[in-house]
Amino acid sequence: MKRSGTLICYMLFIYASILQAQQPDTSDARFRPLLHFTPKVNWMNDPNGMVYYKGTYHLFYQYYPDGNTWGPMHWGHATSTNLMNWVHQPIALYPDSLGMIFSGSAVVDKNNTSGFGKNGQVPLVAIFTQHDEAAMKKGSKSFQNQSIAYSLDEGKTWTKYKNNPVLRSPGIVDFRDPKVSWNTAVNKWIMTLAVADRIHFYSSPDLKNWTKESEFGDKAGAHGGVWECPDLFPMKHEGKEIWVLLVSLNPGGPNKGSATQYFLGDFDGKTFHPYSTETKWIDYGPDNYAGVTWSNTGDKRYFMGWMSNWSYAQQVPTYTWRSAMTLPRELRIEKSGSEYLLIQHADELIRPFFTSGSTWEKANMRPGMNMVRPYDILQNPCRVRLSAGQSDVSVTFSDDKGGALNVGYDHKADQYYIDRTNAGLSSFYSGFATRATAPRIATGDSIELTIILDKSSVELFADGGRTAMTAVFFPKQPFTKATLQYKEGITVKANYAPLKRK
Ligand code: FRU
Repeated sequence: MKRSGTLICYMLFIYASILQAQQPDTSDARFRPLLHFTPKVNWMNDPNGMVYYKGTYHLFYQYYPDGNTWGPMHWGHATSTNLMNWVHQPIALYPDSLGMIFSGSAVVDKNNTSGFGKNGQVPLVAIFTQHDEAAMKKGSKSFQNQSIAYSLDEGKTWTKYKNNPVLRSPGIVDFRDPKVSWNTAVNKWIMTLAVADRIHFYSSPDLKNWTKESEFGDKAGAHGGVWECPDLFPMKHEGKEIWVLLVSLNPGGPNKGSATQYFLGDFDGKTFHPYSTETKWIDYGPDNYAGVTWSNTGDKRYFMGWMSNWSYAQQVPTYTWRSAMTLPRELRIEKSGSEYLLIQHADELIRPFFTSGSTWEKANMRPGMNMVRPYDILQNPCRVRLSAGQSDVSVTFSDDKGGALNVGYDHKADQYYIDRTNAGLSSFYSGFATRATAPRIATGDSIELTIILDKSSVELFADGGRTAMTAVFFPKQPFTKATLQYKEGITVKANYAPLKRK
């Protein structure tokens, strides 16, 4: 009797396992990228407080630990030694009586200007907005104020300054996202702050007392929405110092909703003087927002953005975790004619994770074929690199039920594009199933593309990183196939690389 009971249990177990294996995978685990940072659980938005210290990159982020939509903001925390493999750390900053912990930055206060360091210890100081929801509800206009906190154990634990806030809003409702850096021209800290749709610059000798220096933004750049999450830093190009000002904008992006614009110019420690007031986008895709750079990284500049868009971030079909960061990108300045450009690429950081790749099947490369045979051993994540004469060229990642994501270059329009119209789930937001486009900025004869696919995201870097596009998508079935398309008579070189096996 006992034995037959055991047998029945065993058979039921086998039956349940078979049933489970036959179910389509509807869990949101299938959308979780492998190469991109995601929170363990629940809601994440902007990257915050990015600072490099003693061999460790710190990534803090807007985090709501109790739900999968935006809520009272904390700073989540993760660390890495290569910007790619992240270790989750305990929450760094919790809301308090002054409000939620909104976006901001962190600096290494090497000279202990703040006086927080004791016995020769170097303090890390975080500067962030406190959003006082209760004051807002009572009708106050000064509900976003800047506060600071310090760490004496290399970012593990943080103590809030007892005299917070250090910079109160002068009655302006959108007054947030301080990005602070040390300015050697004036030997002071400079805070770059987003104020409505302008940037205000403040200075301070000690991170505690702030003086307003100037404003920037009138008649410059895009103003379709509020300005948020700025960054200001110098870069070198052939010995010349060029200042980069990043400004996120929501809504009003080139492909609707949230996006990040940039200005190049001079900063004299007080005022930003742009070379041009024209709008330039750091990324034309719909899903790269609130991106800023790591502080304390010497001559290198690494950028990371939130890989989502406020238009639909809270409705995307992942439930146990919500949203990922972009890949880390190295920024550089290039000159094109008389114009300077901000370029970005992820090549060096991601290279160790991919095989050197193989040439796309020789048989498929014969000129004269409009559509090459499917390359049907798609691994995901993967990296595809293409170079081609100026002509239509694209890669389609698809499943076997008609779902497809198409990424490429449209010669007639002279545009790059990511077409997710038919790439999977989209009913959660009416404007999600779209084809996003970006102008080709380079002027050379051939076009050059790197495409990185990672489960539910695609990043495109064109012409050595002059044009970038980032988009998320949610395939109904896993993609199993990659197809290369190009026109008759065109020379195309393509390299396909899966992830290295561990
Ligand atoms: C940008 C933003 C910031 C703000 C934070 C709140 O996405 O709106 O301006 O500090 O998110 O979570």
